[in-house]
Amino acid sequence: MADNTVSAQWLGHATFLVTSPEGYRILIDPWINGNPVCPAGAKDLSNVDLILVTHGHGDHIADAVPIALQSGAPVIGVVELCHWVKSKGVHDTRGMNKGGTQVAGPVSVTMVHADHSCGITDGDQIVYGGEAVGYVVRFSNGYKVWHMGDTAVFGDMALIADIYRPDAVMMPIGDHYTMGVVEAARAVRLTGVKKIIPMHFGTFPMLQGTREELRSLCGDIDGLEIVELKPGDTVCL
Ligand code: NI
Ligand code: MN
Repeated sequence: MADNTVSAQWLGHATFLVTSPEGYRILIDPWINGNPVCPAGAKDLSNVDLILVTHGHGDHIADAVPIALQSGAPVIGVVELCHWVKSKGVHDTRGMNKGGTQVAGPVSVTMVHADHSCGITDGDQIVYGGEAVGYVVRFSNGYKVWHMGDTAVFGDMALIADIYRPDAVMMPIGDHYTMGVVEAARAVRLTGVKKIIPMHFGTFPMLQGTREELRSLCGDIDGLEIVELKPGDTVCL
């Protein structure tokens, strides 16, 4: 990767390893060992610097505790989710809530709304995990990345984009548990962001949305880039 750029490696589904211009490694929604599309070669995450979790569903939080314990990386999440993570032995949790921003290493992290649920399956119980969220991460070179988490489309995506001006968006398109392509196409228009990294599709048969369908629904948008990654690929942002 070139100097002074932000890069993102897609580990499949909603899991990304984002690296800052300083080399600070941010793991978002760690679902590694049970993730059927996470490449074997990408599974050593013992040296991450920060873990962000959007919500408590297993396909987003499953490996947060083991990787936090192994790496010592702090975990950022909504306060109730962080309380649960702390109860599992992780000392450095940094709970926050929607609308707030906190600094971690060389980045700042803003928690934003997502329209989804957030129970944490713990044994045979479902624990209240706060609310599902997204994150806008701002890097030292000014670049901003919005990971939407799992979400339906909502009108205030336009407000979030207007306030934070993200340069790239990781957006769910798979349908069933999140937006499908029709809703995602509206989300593209609401945000006005020109670099879209589709996620949360193709992992299981029921997640049927495709990048091709999204592209065909957004073909009239000038300058729009829908980034095509295979799990394991890295893109310079
Ligand atoms: Ni979910
Ligand atoms: Mn999910």
